Amino acid sequence: MIELCSVHDLNEGESLGFNITDKPVFAVRKDGDIFVYHNECPHLSVELEFQENDFLDLDGALIQCSTHGALFEIETGHCLSGPCQGDYLKPAEFTVRDEVLYLVPEKEIST
Ligand code: FES
Repeated sequence: MIELCSVHDLNEGESLGFNITDKPVFAVRKDGDIFVYHNECPHLSVELEFQENDFLDLDGALIQCSTHGALFEIETGHCLSGPCQGDYLKPAEFTVRDEVLYLVPEKEIST
């Protein structure tokens, strides 16, 4: 497992990006729950954020791609509008232990 951050570093309604592995991911906290996705827009496979750690739209209700403005539901990664409407962000496997957020690399999931 790969340590990402303390859960206390991820505030409600905010997002954090992590470039720790060769596949960047980002985490969002909404209504107390944490969601982690690969940082890759299903439209053109580019990274999503406007600037560092800024993955959400203006009111923090949806994930937004900075390239063409696609909007994604935080809970599901479902694209609600934009050029990749109907597609999904790819969820990243994660776990929380002792208030630390860990990424579970894909090769650990399959074993
Ligand atoms: S690259 Fe994300 S909407 Fe086009």
